[in-house]
Amino acid sequence: MKIEIRKITEEEAEEKIDINIKVWWTTYRGLIPDEIIAKLQTKTQERIERQKQTIREKNNTYGIYVDNKLVGYSSYGPARDENYKDSCEIYSCYILEEYQRLHLGRKVVIKILEDFIKEGYKTMITKCLVGNPSNKFHEAIGGQLKGVTESELMGEKFKVNVYYHDDIRKSLILNQQKEERFYLEEPSLERKEEAMEYLQEHVANGSKLYGTGGMDSCLQGLKYEDWLIKIEKRKDENYAKSINKSPGKTFFLIRSTDNKMIGMISIRYNLTKEMLEWGGHIGYGIRPTERRKGYSKINLYLGLIKAKEEFKLDKVMLDCSADNIGSNKTIQSLGGVLERSEIDPTDNTLTNVYWINVDESLEKNRQKYSKYIKEKSKNDNR
Ligand SMILES: CC(C)(COP(=O)(O)OP(=O)(O)OC[C@H]1O[C@@H](n2cnc3c(N)ncnc32)[C@H](O)[C@@H]1OP(=O)(O)O)[C@@H](O)C(=O)NCCC(=O)NCCS
Repeated sequence: MKIEIRKITEEEAEEKIDINIKVWWTTYRGLIPDEIIAKLQTKTQERIERQKQTIREKNNTYGIYVDNKLVGYSSYGPARDENYKDSCEIYSCYILEEYQRLHLGRKVVIKILEDFIKEGYKTMITKCLVGNPSNKFHEAIGGQLKGVTESELMGEKFKVNVYYHDDIRKSLILNQQKEERFYLEEPSLERKEEAMEYLQEHVANGSKLYGTGGMDSCLQGLKYEDWLIKIEKRKDENYAKSINKSPGKTFFLIRSTDNKMIGMISIRYNLTKEMLEWGGHIGYGIRPTERRKGYSKINLYLGLIKAKEEFKLDKVMLDCSADNIGSNKTIQSLGGVLERSEIDPTDNTLTNVYWINVDESLEKNRQKYSKYIKEKSKNDNR
C-alpha cells in the first residue's frame, strides 16, 4: 500500500466533493437528519467552481492518496472561532469508510502540525460533532476536550465538542511516536559509522554498554570488521562450544521511520554453566539519547520473538544490576519473575536474576507491542 500525503489540486475539486458527500452519509446518518445531509451534500457545478477557487486561493488542503487514489483529505488554517484567535485549526478530515482506522488520519495530522509549527503557531483547536465516534480520534491525536459549542446547519442547532492542543510541538511528538516502527537487524558493514557513533554516545554520556555482543571492544581497538567476523562465527554452535562460549546472535534495534540505530540486543542459547548463573540468554541496551521513551520494552519484545522463532527458547534468563531501575522495569513489564537477588562475583554488584516464560510473555504483550513492529526488514532473512 503506497501512501502519499500531498496538497490537492484544482483538478481534484470534484473528487474531493465526492469524498465529502460519501463520508457525510456514512458518518452523520442518525446524527444529522437525512434531509439536511441531502440538502448540504449535493454536487452542483457551482459547488465545484467554488471548491476550485478555494483550492487555488487558499491551498490549505492535503489529499490522502493510497496507491495514487484520493481516499481522503484534510483542510486547515487559522482558527475560525473568536475564542481561539491565536490558535490554528484543522477544519476537516474526511476519509472514505473503507480506508478509516489505518492511521491515515494520524499521518495527515502530522503533516499539518509540521506546517503549523513552521508558520509559528503554538496552539490548535479541532471540532467534532457530539455523538460522532471520531471524537476518539480527536482525543487520540492529543486534543483535550475544552468544551461544547453549537453549530447551525440549515437553521438547526447541533452540539459540537471543542478540542484544544496547548502545545502543538508536544502533539506532533506524540503523533510521530505513535507512528514509529522498529525491527531487529543483523549488524553489517553498512552501519559501521553509525555503530561507532552509538559507542561514542555511551562514552560521552558516561554510560555502560549492554547487549553489544562484544562490539564495545571496538572502543579498545578491535576493528569493527573483525567484530563482524567474530559474531558471525558465534552463530555456530560447535565453534562457540570450542571456545567455551554460548552461541547466539546480536542485533541492532532499528527505528524504521528514520532508519536510526536505537539499541542493541544479544540473544544466546545453550548457555554455558557460567552464563546460566550470571549473564543469561538476553542482554540489551538503548542508546543514551533515546532512553525513557519506552524503546527498551519494544527491544526486549522483539528479542523474545527471536528467542522463540530462531532459537526455540521457551524460557529465558536475564539478569541486571539491582540499582538499574529502567532495566528492572523492562524485564518486569515483559513478565520477568525474580529468581534471586545476589552479588554477581564477576563484577561484585547486587544483581537480580529473572526468568521469562517466552510464550506467555509474547501472548500477553502482543496487543501492546505488535503495533510498533515493522514486519519485514531487508535483513530479516539473513
Ligand atoms: C476521523 C478520521 C479522520 C480518523 O482517521 P483514521 O485514519 O480513521 O484514524 P487513525 O487510524 O489515524 O487513528 C488514530 C487514532 O485514533 C483512534 N480512532 C480513530 N477513529 C476512531 C473511532 N471511530 N473510534 C475509536 N478510536 C478511533 C485510533 O484507534 C487511533 O488511536 P491509537 O493510535 O491510539 O490506536 C476518519 O476515521 C474519518 O474520516 N472518519 C469519518 C469522518 C469524520 O468523522 N471526520 C471527523 C469530523 S470531526
